[in-house]
Amino acid sequence: MKIEVKFGRPPTNINAVQVHLFAKSDSGSVAKAAADLGLSKVLPGKSDFTGRRDESFECYLQKDARGLHHIFLGIGTDADGGADNARRAGGILAGIAAKSKDQAAILLDCPEPAKNLAAFAEGLILGGYRFDRFKSRQSNKSENNKIKKLRLYLGDKFKAHIRAVDRSVIVAEAACLARDLVNTPANYLTPTSYANEAAALAGKYRIKMKIYGPRELAKLKMGLLLGVARGSDQPPRLITWRYDGGKKGEPPIVLVGKGVTFDTGGISLKPNEGMADMKNDMAGSAAVIAQIMVLGRLKPRLNVIGVAPAVENMPSGKALKPSDILTASDGQTVEVLNTDAEGRLILADALCFAQRFKPKAIIDIATLTGAVKIALGTATAGILGNDEALLKRLYDCGQATAEKTWQLPLWREYYEQIKSDMADMKNVGGKPAGAITAAAFLSKFVKKVPWAHIDIAAMDNQEGSHPYQPKGATGFGVRLLAEMLLGWKG
Ligand code: BES
Ligand code: MN
Ligand code: ZN
Repeated sequence: MKIEVKFGRPPTNINAVQVHLFAKSDSGSVAKAAADLGLSKVLPGKSDFTGRRDESFECYLQKDARGLHHIFLGIGTDADGGADNARRAGGILAGIAAKSKDQAAILLDCPEPAKNLAAFAEGLILGGYRFDRFKSRQSNKSENNKIKKLRLYLGDKFKAHIRAVDRSVIVAEAACLARDLVNTPANYLTPTSYANEAAALAGKYRIKMKIYGPRELAKLKMGLLLGVARGSDQPPRLITWRYDGGKKGEPPIVLVGKGVTFDTGGISLKPNEGMADMKNDMAGSAAVIAQIMVLGRLKPRLNVIGVAPAVENMPSGKALKPSDILTASDGQTVEVLNTDAEGRLILADALCFAQRFKPKAIIDIATLTGAVKIALGTATAGILGNDEALLKRLYDCGQATAEKTWQLPLWREYYEQIKSDMADMKNVGGKPAGAITAAAFLSKFVKKVPWAHIDIAAMDNQEGSHPYQPKGATGFGVRLLAEMLLGWKG
């Protein structure tokens, strides 16, 4: 569904659904609102709606020939979710609207709009997302394939929130852009085509981009990145962009994202079960690249650099073998004992590269370990790092966006697990604390700069049902990173 958000009133000659958001209350206030609409007369006994989170109630009032379509959406109480409940209500409206004839939705009531309005609009856009690039015309679902357009009209009484709404519309659209990249299978999204798409995006928003191919990467001595890329017929790319919105010379924030366009595991081949999901192994880099849209459209006053190493991890006669030793761009050596722990290898070289810019902070984001899902499940990403203030920032932004983050410890004890007899370190630390030893590995390449790592391996894909995350890529990290950048102080 294509969704636009506007202020004012829709033209009168189109089908519009009138939307009422309600906080959880005694049924009294809902009953009164319903009565004001003549609802109790039309549908007696249907006033059991109390505004619980995710609750919806739909009705048609026969005030005129067309009938007036109304939807009541519950947003519960602060204690059960805060603004995310409004985001969920937006997603629920998207689900209902997609199946209706309505061309517009008019928001009439919204409790605490300063808190809920932007989140609601965001949820509508996120929930209305569909990935239909590969549904042909012959598909028997052709009816559903017609891209529907829905305009959300916010009455003039909400005008004060125009900036907040604009911002969340842009950020939600950036999340949908990341979802498109992540959902695209690896025969269409190779490191080369990925870099080209990123370049087109940067061009559109006049953001500087530089793409490094194998020859440049060899010059940069990125032995770990090149090592992983070796098994594939697809040449690697290091995709970098720079947004100069701040003062000249002001140190940038550098975002680093894992861009494995497909992760077979390499010679340490994964079982087929679940391997198809490994087209998502570039979700971290998609969250970084999508910031081009956020920054290009919202133009905050700061300097930001994006770094996305893009490779395909394949087995072949040229591929890395367990026991191979590689040299990183900072000279440290790594014994590769499992070729499936490839993300930390490409990120290590990317982190070394990031430090050339003397950043005030580096944040990397990656589908790095299955172990993070064992540790934390699918409710939150794991974060680790060397700077408590930066981690606190990420925690707060996670709460604000409902792209939640939770810190895992990065203590000395864990470094024992990645000691190697042969090289400076090995690329795996065994089963225990796998998400932590992966971060410990990364930290070896970070020298005296505030750094945080976000492991999103359990967050990139939605398998169940969720009001504003349709099945498939979630775009996780786009809203989180945008919140951090747009609210950056210091
Ligand atoms: N891309 C995977 C991590 C992953 C697993 C993401 C499941 C999403 C869902 C990563 O490259 C990987 O294979 N990690 C290994 C590390 C192990 C070999 C130390 C893992 O988690 O099994
Ligand atoms: Mn892997
Ligand atoms: Zn991977």
